[in-house]
Amino acid sequence: MAFNRAKNAIKSPWTITTPFHPLSGESIKMTTNGNGNDHKYFLEHDGPEHDRLTFQHRALLQMLHGQAIHAPLQAPAKILDIGCGTGVMTVLLAKRFPAAHVIGVDLAPVPEAFTKPDNVTYMQGSFSDLVSTGKLEKGSFDFVFSRMLVFGIQDWNSYVKNVAALLKHGGWTEMQDLDTRARNRDSILAHQDNVFEKTMVSVMADQGMDATCGINLPTYMTSAGLQVGGHEFVPWVLKSFKSRPETELMAQHTQSGSMTTAVVLALEKMMASERYSRELVKEAQESVKSLWGNAEDGEHMRYYICYAQKP
Ligand SMILES: C[S@@+](CC[C@H](N)C(=O)[O-])C[C@H]1O[C@@H](n2cnc3c(N)ncnc32)[C@H](O)[C@@H]1O
Repeated sequence: MAFNRAKNAIKSPWTITTPFHPLSGESIKMTTNGNGNDHKYFLEHDGPEHDRLTFQHRALLQMLHGQAIHAPLQAPAKILDIGCGTGVMTVLLAKRFPAAHVIGVDLAPVPEAFTKPDNVTYMQGSFSDLVSTGKLEKGSFDFVFSRMLVFGIQDWNSYVKNVAALLKHGGWTEMQDLDTRARNRDSILAHQDNVFEKTMVSVMADQGMDATCGINLPTYMTSAGLQVGGHEFVPWVLKSFKSRPETELMAQHTQSGSMTTAVVLALEKMMASERYSRELVKEAQESVKSLWGNAEDGEHMRYYICYAQKP
């Protein structure tokens, strides 16, 4: 399939734009549970998590030079924000497109952190349930957005197929998500033998999840019948990237330890089964603290932006 690069793609000189597969050999084939069950969630829904997400939003916007969305939208009338969390992006989309009706869905109630514009509706529930029960109407959306669902989706193929079903013909989706593996300042995978990384990738795969989903988004979108318009990444730094001021807030975010704490708790939940020894859980938890806490200048994960159109 031709790779149609949209005009308004990210312009950062460090950004790499790639046809699929982005880096040959790096794309990980995921096993899926095949039942579309995406109810399990491994992060918290409490005050500290909402604070973490709020700061993370600021850091992401700085990292993206203020460009929150990249799909070439015209005048969308109906927009969906899946896994909207605090609602910060839902509100941003509603303000950016005041004539649109913007729906934010999440497993948990959306906290009243941001004043809800009149054109926003929140719905609580699992995305797959909201689709299968018809509460989200198929073929009715002009734009479907999601960001940071790496710990939420248990079957990416089924998830992206549901997104495709909700879109109108000509509608766009944009997904922004991580490849959680750490890379050095030259963006080379640097810690694949690290206990945390190996454990994280395999434990998540055991659940049908994808710790590297960002890099695989074009594959999921293509198999859902969508036409990919862009797939790019920016570095989600673990330690400051001195030559790149736009990563300053993200460096503060990761070095604050709040992300590490969230992942330590997630490992506890994901590995709460007899198939994983307590020793392995502890070792993986200590290992992420040390890997991210002692990161060197410019070490980063990749944050991918992928957008696609329904033909
Ligand atoms: C890491 S937070 C990101 C929140 C928001 N997208 C942002 O970037 O600020 C992920 C959110 O997705 C929600 N979520 C995860 N899986 C979901 C699902 N299957 N259906 C609906 N919401 C989901 C979680 O409840 C959580 O609030």
